[in-house]
Amino acid sequence: MKVDGKHHRTIWLKESDKETVQIIDQRNLPHEFIIEDLKTVEDMIVAIKDMHVRGAGLIGAAAGYGMYIAALEAYKSDSFDKTLQMLADKLIATRPTATNLSWAVKRQIKEMNKYGSTKEKVEAALKTAKEIADEDAEFCKSIGEHGSKIIEDISKQKNGKPVNILTHCNAGWLAFVDYGTATAPIYEAFNKGIKVHVWVDETRPRNQGARLTAWELEQHKVPFTVIADNVGGHLMQHSMVDMCIVGTDRTTYTGDVANKVGTYLKALAAKDNNIPFYVALPSSTFDWNMRNGVKEIPIEQRGNEEVKFARGWLEGEIKEVLLTPKNANAANFAFDVTPRRLVTGLITERGICDASEEGVLSLFPEKKI
Ligand code: MRU
Repeated sequence: MKVDGKHHRTIWLKESDKETVQIIDQRNLPHEFIIEDLKTVEDMIVAIKDMHVRGAGLIGAAAGYGMYIAALEAYKSDSFDKTLQMLADKLIATRPTATNLSWAVKRQIKEMNKYGSTKEKVEAALKTAKEIADEDAEFCKSIGEHGSKIIEDISKQKNGKPVNILTHCNAGWLAFVDYGTATAPIYEAFNKGIKVHVWVDETRPRNQGARLTAWELEQHKVPFTVIADNVGGHLMQHSMVDMCIVGTDRTTYTGDVANKVGTYLKALAAKDNNIPFYVALPSSTFDWNMRNGVKEIPIEQRGNEEVKFARGWLEGEIKEVLLTPKNANAANFAFDVTPRRLVTGLITERGICDASEEGVLSLFPEKKI
């Protein structure tokens, strides 16, 4: 996508040094656009854990490139296999809910295992890292094409009046390699000339909506309004939301959706008001082993300082201010699970399906046991 008119992805190999990965450090967006060099697996681990990079698809792509750097480090060590496995385990432990992470690490190990020499394994890791990133961008583009038809239909029902879409957190291009998932149908519809307007949940505590989704939409000139997290229900009761589209960090093959905390409440409000609630995801975000999302999906808990403090831009720099009493207890559950019964449909790279085992397997029959 474009930043100030120039095309960017969220992760790439440095032009002048093919052993360095470059990312957009998302912590200071929208106020500062910083590109960061990652040279070691430790750098990548910090970048994922501390959310310089974040979002399902980008975490997967970061893990893919992380495994390439891991292969380079393993190549220089006494035991390739032992070092690689140790670094893979460390990468997987960084963010527990995002399934793209372990998916990408496992894909890398499978590809490397096809080769005997360590040199070939490193080459395979590089090729696979690029493939994971390219595939992510390609899948998101297709999600945009499929999802835009839903927006187009609503626009026709409204005789061309703006389609009001509510989204939560950031499942935009910053959360992937390019295009995004929840925002891809919006960009596609907007590019086709369909009138849209986006309600952007601020998404406490890290404000990915207020900071990142708002910035993306602004860059693309899509009309939007940032709202406090608890406003959505009111808007839905007053016919000010035509549909919701969110992303997901892990979706069971039965259709239960883990996404940024607060998604479940929006889905409940949408159900109560008969508003379609869609989830957009590439197939890499499906968990093909879990049946019951509420019981089985691990929910990441992060440091309570993210809840107690607010970060923002003041006098040319990022500042943190304390919101709560100094010694207040605070809990930081980063995700929640929306049961399939509240989800109208899943928008994938292969098309749209019901949020059910039958629906998902009809699009991905090769996953049937
Ligand atoms: O904690 P984050 O920022 O990595 O959370 C992931 C997300 O951005 C959201 O949950 C998103 O809606 C789904 S992932 C594209």
